[in-house]
Amino acid sequence: MYKFKFADIGEGIHEGKLLKWEVKVGDKVEDGDTLFSVETDKITAEIPCPVDGTIAKLNYKEGDVIHVGDIVVVIDDGTGDSAAAPAPAKVEAPKETVEAIEEPDAGGVVGEIKVSNELFPSFGGAAPKAPATSNTIVKEDDVSNANDKRTQDGPKVDCEKTYDLIIVGAGPGGYVAAEHAAKNGLKTAIIEREFFGGVCLNVGCIPTKALLKSAKVYKQIKHMQDYGFGMELAEEQINAIKPNWKTVMNRKNEVVGQLTKGVAFLMRSNKVDTYTGEAKYIGDHAIEVNGKKLAYKKLIIATGSRARRIPINGLEEGYKAGFVATSKEALSWTEIPKNLIVIGAGVIGVEFACLFDALGSKVTMLQNIDKILEILDKDIQKTLFDSFVKRGIDIKLSANISKINKDSVELSIGDKIIKIKADKVLISVGRVPNIEAFKDMPNLEIGKRGEIVVDDYCQTSVQDVYAIGDVNGRLMLAHVASAEGVSVVDTIVGHKTRTNYETNPSCIYTFPESSSVGITEQFAKENKLDVVVQKTPYRVSGKALADGETEGFCKIIADKKTGTLLGAHFVGQSSTDIISELSAFMDLEGTVYDLSRTIHPHPTIAELISETCRHAIYKLNKANK
Ligand code: NAI
Repeated sequence: MYKFKFADIGEGIHEGKLLKWEVKVGDKVEDGDTLFSVETDKITAEIPCPVDGTIAKLNYKEGDVIHVGDIVVVIDDGTGDSAAAPAPAKVEAPKETVEAIEEPDAGGVVGEIKVSNELFPSFGGAAPKAPATSNTIVKEDDVSNANDKRTQDGPKVDCEKTYDLIIVGAGPGGYVAAEHAAKNGLKTAIIEREFFGGVCLNVGCIPTKALLKSAKVYKQIKHMQDYGFGMELAEEQINAIKPNWKTVMNRKNEVVGQLTKGVAFLMRSNKVDTYTGEAKYIGDHAIEVNGKKLAYKKLIIATGSRARRIPINGLEEGYKAGFVATSKEALSWTEIPKNLIVIGAGVIGVEFACLFDALGSKVTMLQNIDKILEILDKDIQKTLFDSFVKRGIDIKLSANISKINKDSVELSIGDKIIKIKADKVLISVGRVPNIEAFKDMPNLEIGKRGEIVVDDYCQTSVQDVYAIGDVNGRLMLAHVASAEGVSVVDTIVGHKTRTNYETNPSCIYTFPESSSVGITEQFAKENKLDVVVQKTPYRVSGKALADGETEGFCKIIADKKTGTLLGAHFVGQSSTDIISELSAFMDLEGTVYDLSRTIHPHPTIAELISETCRHAIYKLNKANK
């Protein structure tokens, strides 16, 4: 009989109100099914069932207050105990009765996992095996042992608690690694100084996507007459429809709130110990947080990055005055700037430029080099550049910014000196890894860009210490951080795995959006690779036409001899959702022959993939005659 206790869900929460039962006595339940929802003064959460079985007894009714440690429900999991006789249909049981049947070690807690009592002595051996993941699993003898020789020095510190694994940073790298570690039986702690979910969930990917959705809806409203709505409205009336920024921001905040609470809860429900505070390396295998000294067998540094601020005259003053913002502060602006200057036309710059342009700002982008989105395929650069300019975004290339004033930016382009007025300036000129907490760690190698240097397994120069995500400076993308986290945990539990960066997809959420995987056409040219390149415009797609969104293309790059897929590049609606198909094919070393034979549903944008591959094959056949 499994006596399910209300677990400590952290944040200083000791009790909650049982909102709704999702099961009744006699119901068959499986591990992971929702048992009930609970509301505390901080969160509302669904509580999952940790075992398979039959509901024997519900000890509380909806609306009751339950306390940490209370046995809320008894589940017959087939482990015996004659008290197991299913309780009568009565819902409520007096608390005394509940406590009377409690055994000292009998209760489980939410999402209980078995935690190893012994710290694992070395790689492999008795350590639990991780499930296979999409990352590349490497045979033991393929792995370089070079790092195994590097030791971790520093003062010996007496610690109050020891963990198999401590993770510093609860972004998409850290929290995914923590969950995976706990599920694999490691006694795990995660330390976060600011917000669970990291930059991505709180002030990065997710809030920007929520705002971009509002901007997209607004764009569609403006074009509603094309689709047969509001025909009675005059142009001025449609133009008079303005975004309500407060509501747009509230929606964004709700999305973020839901996700970040979910992350904190995920940690606790997997029995990952969470610490909120600034972590600091204090000695050999030791970390301090809020005055607590914690020892680790393995450490994952997942501290992420922050926006880079460059030495421009007046930038720091402008930043203090709120005139200049990084993407983090821009996500809390209280109004839509009438005139916005974006410094840097990289990924963050173009996404924010599109967002505020769509919401009605007059946007000027200042880019120090002669192109935008430098690392992308040239056709993507050109298509997006033309699209932005056509919409009225002013892009000034080869701009040399000399000064930021109270309400303007001064720059030169060649001999021409320009001064542009603005309400706000967004600075998006790259990101800097957060390494400060580990600067005292002996032998930790730091690279030229301030990143923690790692090998293919995210192993740092210090034994037992790994670095994942933005802090290792490899690919500053949330999904790469998560993949690295899973790989490192797999390696720690004896299943040596390295992240497969070659088939990593990248997405940019502009209007229109863009996505890429693999090599670019210019890379193929520069490296004299024998390839075939095939491109299909979106306007031939029935789905794109039906949607009225025909801007963009699909480009496929394949090896000329074998047809093996080497790269794929998209601009156009839904492209961020369909790029994964190409990544998976590249992972499997698939060819354009395979892809062209894969039946794609009609009508979808994804049909462009098989269509493009079919035409690539005609070219291949001709070339290989
Ligand atoms: P970035 O490196 O992508 O772009 C920075 C741009 O600023 C470059 O084009 C550079 O030429 C320009 N720049 C540098 N100094 C300048 C100056 N003095 N004046 C004018 N322009 C200057 O950096 P960004 O956009 O800040 O993004 C940072 C990281 O975040 C990237 O690694 C990116 O991959 C990641 N990210 C990814 C997203 C996605 O995948 N959708 C979304 C947001 C960020």
